[in-house]
Formats: sequence, C-alpha cells, structure tokens
Amino acid sequence: MSKKQFYIYKGFERFWHWMQAILIFFLAFTGFEIHGTYSFFGFRDAVRYHNVAAYMFIGLIVFAIFWHLTTGEYKQYIPTLVNIKAQLNYYIFGIFRNAPHPTKKTVLSKLNPLQKLTYFGLKILVIPLSLTSGLLYIFYRYPSRHGIKAINIETLEVIAIVHTVAAVLLVAFIITHLYLITTGETLTSNLKAMLTGYEELEDMHHTEQKEKK
Ligand code: HEM
Repeated sequence: MSKKQFYIYKGFERFWHWMQAILIFFLAFTGFEIHGTYSFFGFRDAVRYHNVAAYMFIGLIVFAIFWHLTTGEYKQYIPTLVNIKAQLNYYIFGIFRNAPHPTKKTVLSKLNPLQKLTYFGLKILVIPLSLTSGLLYIFYRYPSRHGIKAINIETLEVIAIVHTVAAVLLVAFIITHLYLITTGETLTSNLKAMLTGYEELEDMHHTEQKEKK
C-alpha cells in the first residue's frame, strides 16, 4: 500500500499537547521540591511557581475540554479492548523482532488501543485526582493559615498522599511516554507528527484523510 503525508494533529491539539507537557513537567519539578526531594528554587518560590503553573494548567484543561467536545475529537479516546492483546504483545515481543505495528494509524483513529486506555485513565482518573487534591490543598492550607477554615477537613494527610501518588503516576507516565515516542514507524516519526501535524501513513483511500498539498 502506498504512503502519503496526512494531517493528523491540528494546531490547537499540538499547542495543547506541548503546553501540557511543559506545565506537567514544571509542576512535577516544583512539586517534588515542595515534597522535599531536592532544593532548587527554595520552598517559598517553588510553592509560588507551582500555584501559577497549576492555574495555567486548569485554564488549559478548560480550553481542551471545550475543543474536544466541540470538534468531536473526544471520541478518539473512548477505550476499546479490541486488539489490546496484540498491541501489548507488540510492545513486549514484536517490537524487538521488527514485527509490523498491529494497528494502523488513520486520521479518524490515531491512537492505538493501549494509548486510548492510558489517555482515558489519565483524563478521567489521574489528572482529576491531581487537580482536585491540588485545589483542596490550596483551599485547605492557605485560607486556614489566616484562621479561616475554607473546607472542613481535619488533616492534610490524605490530600497530600493522593496528590503525591497522582504526581508519581504522572511522572511514570511521562517516562513511558518518552520511550514510546521513539517506537513509531521511524525513531522520530511520532515526534515530527506532534511538531508539524503531518505524518506519513498508509493510504487507505480514506476520503476523510486530509493530504498534504
Ligand atoms: C491543577 C493542578 C494542581 C494544583 C492546584 C496543585 C497544587 C498544589 C499545592 C497547593 C501543593 C502544596 C504546596 C504547599 O505545601 O504549600 C502541591 C504540592 C505538590 N504538588 Fe501539586 N498541584 C497541581 C498539580 C500537580 C501536578 C500535575 C504534579 C506533578 C506531576 C504536582 C506535584 C506536586 C507534589 C509532588 C507536591 C508535594 C506534595 C507533598 O509532599 O505533600 N502537582 N500542589
């Protein structure tokens, strides 16, 4: 089957992806300083920067939800069990034996089944956990410093544990994601696609696939 360049990641999608990458990286970096893992900005500044990045992240999430709903792109993330075993087998065995990718990327289905499941989990579980525990952290800690109990929680412990667990899961995701970026058709094809929007795909005669002029 012949290959052609197709436009798979739109402008907003790429902006959202890279902003999200920068913000999550920065939130993790300042967050683990707050946690006490190392010292870089100093605790006070780390908290200040973490809060600013957190509000930017929330703003980005609001725009991303709007974009996904209005364009219908949210459908790309609906998880499926079809081919999940084949995809797992590929990452564990096939990839080391030069086997072909078990699922084909198209404009209407650009995520493989494992990506759908992972991103869906991030969107409905890990990121909401991180965000809600982060907001609870803010509204518990800061107002109560001035004697106002904004929310009626006895201790920060559970909030801190949930927030830290979500942070560790996000960092684990980023590490895996960085490796998986390199496992496209070529070492850099996935990265190039997220930078330019275009990727070389098999021409499946899909009229909906927008070709590069
Ligand atoms: C909108 C999202 C977020 C909000 C509102 C938020 C807010 C906060 C707040 C208020 C603190 C406590 C600061 C203090 O002790 O004074 C904190 C701590 C922390 N944050 Fe976030 N954060 C968010 C997202 C993230 C993300 C995405 C990560 C990592 C990937 C992260 C990692 C951490 C870590 C590791 C700590 C230290 C937790 C501890 O030791 O108890 N945060 N965050």
